[in-house]
Amino acid sequence: MPADQHCFAPCPRGLEQVLTDELRALGAEAVAARPGGVAFRSSIEGVLRANLESRFASRILLRVVQKPYRTEHDIYKAARGIDWDAWFDVGQTIKVETNGIRAQVKSLDFVSLKVKDAVCDVFRDACGDRPSVNTQRPDQRIHVFLDEQEVTLYLDTSGEALFKRGYRRGAGEAPLRENLAAGILWLAGWTPDRPLFDPMCGSGTFLTEAAMMAMDRAPGLGREFAFERFTGLEGGLWQGLREAAIARVKPLPARLISGRDEDATVLEHARRHLAALGCAPQVDLQVGDALSAEAPEASGVMVMNPPYGERMGEAEALAAWYPRLGDWLKRRFAGWDAWILTGDMKGIRSIGLAPSRKIPLFNGAIECRLLRYEMVAGVRRRGG
Ligand SMILES: C[S@@+](CC[C@H](N)C(=O)[O-])C[C@H]1O[C@@H](n2cnc3c(N)ncnc32)[C@H](O)[C@@H]1O
Repeated sequence: MPADQHCFAPCPRGLEQVLTDELRALGAEAVAARPGGVAFRSSIEGVLRANLESRFASRILLRVVQKPYRTEHDIYKAARGIDWDAWFDVGQTIKVETNGIRAQVKSLDFVSLKVKDAVCDVFRDACGDRPSVNTQRPDQRIHVFLDEQEVTLYLDTSGEALFKRGYRRGAGEAPLRENLAAGILWLAGWTPDRPLFDPMCGSGTFLTEAAMMAMDRAPGLGREFAFERFTGLEGGLWQGLREAAIARVKPLPARLISGRDEDATVLEHARRHLAALGCAPQVDLQVGDALSAEAPEASGVMVMNPPYGERMGEAEALAAWYPRLGDWLKRRFAGWDAWILTGDMKGIRSIGLAPSRKIPLFNGAIECRLLRYEMVAGVRRRGG
């Protein structure tokens, strides 16, 4: 395995800079933000560490080849030139996925098929057998990226996407992806010395991410990774990183993090998720309407992700709700820094407060804004 790897870490769009800073802090080199992710170079140890520690990356992909192409056969040849059998053994299942920007091919699915054939042919030559395909839960994933001129093949070192931290059981309504929630906490400047409150916490994604940050708990401690099945990876390296991360974990201070939701069932999910992280008793969760809550402390950071009103009737109801939200913030949360993630750019205008920041973010395919409302005395009102 080469010591210096070219890597790419995709992330939710809007978090590229946040991820750039994080990867640099984790020791990555030549770190460069790209649309939808970050390119970097790293040792294999750094790749393992990024999987374990990154709160913002969706995956850590390892580049195995990059070549110019003109036809699908060129892509086949690029894949056929890799010693796949040096990375994983033939008994493991695979999945190939292709994405492209201005790709000069008729079908991305056909490219996936050609690359799968190439991987199987490499194994057949090496050992007379081929790996099986498993599109649901493959052991190893190969990502193909095509632009106008070049094909890049990546081996996915993560396996399941990194936002799957391994603690989540039930879903709840429209849960945020964990890496997006972590990125929002980072953008909001929340640090574990300030109270955090989510009045519409649902299954508690902001709360669990904040809890892990406050506990200094690596987000990947509760899950497995594809690299654990790589051949030739020295087991002691991974074990050492994991053990050091476990030794770092500290208890969550009480009354630092609190949440609320009107739906008792989703709050049960939140409670179970916090329990899986070993910090449920320290987090105050209450069932009730958001707008009947009092501020849990004199000052702190509020994060919330209200419903977007995509269904018929909801949009009208939300338009009437936002002015009440604005009033509630003014009356009860002076001294707080409130951050709202919304895809309902029209509805939020009726909140009656002027945001001091508007950060574009994507929640999956939904274009959103993260809006900051600084609830200080004499707060600015829209229109004076
Ligand atoms: C988009 S979801 C939030 C998802 C959450 N961020 C997560 O990751 O699971 C919106 C949440 O607001 C809750 N909700 C809607 N109206 C509410 C209200 N008036 N008071 C409190 N919670 C409310 C819903 O039950 C739902 O869990």
